[in-house]
Amino acid sequence: MIKPISISLSPNTEPDDVRLAFGLLFQPWRWFKGKEIKVLEKEFQKYLGIKHAFAFNSGRSALMAILQALLSSEALAKEDEVLLQAFTCNAVPNPVIWAGLKPVYVDCREDDYNIDVDDLERKITLRQAQGGRPRAVIVQHTFGLPADMEKVQEVCKKHNLVLIEDCAHALGATYKGKKVGTFGKAAFFSFSRDKVISSVYGGMVATNDSVLAQNIQTFQQEIEYPSLFWTLQQLLHPILMNWLILPTYRIFGKYLLILFQWLHILSKAVHWKEKRGIKPSYFPKRLSNALAILALHQFQKLERFNAHRKELAKFYGEQSKNSGYILPQAFPEREHIFLRFPLRHAKAHEIIRKGWERNFLIGDWYTSPVAPEDTRLDALGYIQGSCPTAEKLSQETLNLPTHIRMKEKDAAKIIEFLKTYGT
Ligand SMILES: Cc1ncc(COP(=O)(O)O)c(C=O)c1O
Repeated sequence: MIKPISISLSPNTEPDDVRLAFGLLFQPWRWFKGKEIKVLEKEFQKYLGIKHAFAFNSGRSALMAILQALLSSEALAKEDEVLLQAFTCNAVPNPVIWAGLKPVYVDCREDDYNIDVDDLERKITLRQAQGGRPRAVIVQHTFGLPADMEKVQEVCKKHNLVLIEDCAHALGATYKGKKVGTFGKAAFFSFSRDKVISSVYGGMVATNDSVLAQNIQTFQQEIEYPSLFWTLQQLLHPILMNWLILPTYRIFGKYLLILFQWLHILSKAVHWKEKRGIKPSYFPKRLSNALAILALHQFQKLERFNAHRKELAKFYGEQSKNSGYILPQAFPEREHIFLRFPLRHAKAHEIIRKGWERNFLIGDWYTSPVAPEDTRLDALGYIQGSCPTAEKLSQETLNLPTHIRMKEKDAAKIIEFLKTYGT
């Protein structure tokens, strides 16, 4: 086996996606402006049944657009506090910091990896008593499982908080039959490399609020397209990954990947600056048309992708019963799309490391309360000990791939490997 069994490394890319990216290399006139951006926005709007959708070059830029629009309409003021869950990626608190707002971390729950609504209330009350200004909450639907939206909405209403949904993991998931991304003032989605659909980098804002939409549109028009070089980097990603790096992974492909990233021929998902709370120059930016073309093509595959994820999740669930791992819980009113299949084990970090040594590239979301692991928690405003459940989960969680390229026989190999460590 030369190719690794991997949760990452361009997981959603199929041969037609690679060919599409390759064709685009020779059509630079379609890279920036173009009709596909609007088509993607319209398709998204239709799919979610919402009034407005705006495309950006990432979920990070999309969240920046929402926050800037809230600041412009004076729904938020500089230094206001935005509550968000720990057991997240630095891509969530960073846009908050970059907008001149303050992240306040709320603990998550063991049973669904999502925000703990009791701790949310506690933190709101605490910050108010300490003279803080908690004004908004970002709710993450971790791994594709919707948060308990009814309770979240209740708390937001009671404390007059703006509700923003982080749907980066959860395109297509539903809560009581209603799609995530339609519950709050606004929502954002991600099309980055390991997400539900992928254009390497990309994101979308969704909202039903016409005033907010007007401000987001102004923001979108005022910012620029990413550079030619940056767009080229993203187009090269599926091509080099699938035609060169993955087929040779165990021989020299993994070193090629490092080399290409070092030479800036390929981009990284997270810039080193972000681990210190600093904004890279390519945020916020519009979505380039070339990436909209890739995203649109993937969007047409969404139902198939999510059906496959659910099937593999069922397989993992059945196969890992009584194997010493804690399995995800089911919530009848919430439809989980299983972007990743999370498991818990006291030795999670060791298992991930051993797996990588054997070319089972098991997922590590999240091995820190604000991931990736080498993020400077103090720079991101996280206080050690403030979210004990998130800290515990970050020691115990590993995740299994469910993407379209994972076959059941590969899933069976992972389970076999995991069982050697389970008990
Ligand atoms: C939970 C979560 N929210 C938001 C984001 C940001 O999305 P993007 O990578 O498109 O900026 C990510 C991924 O990085 C994420 O995992």
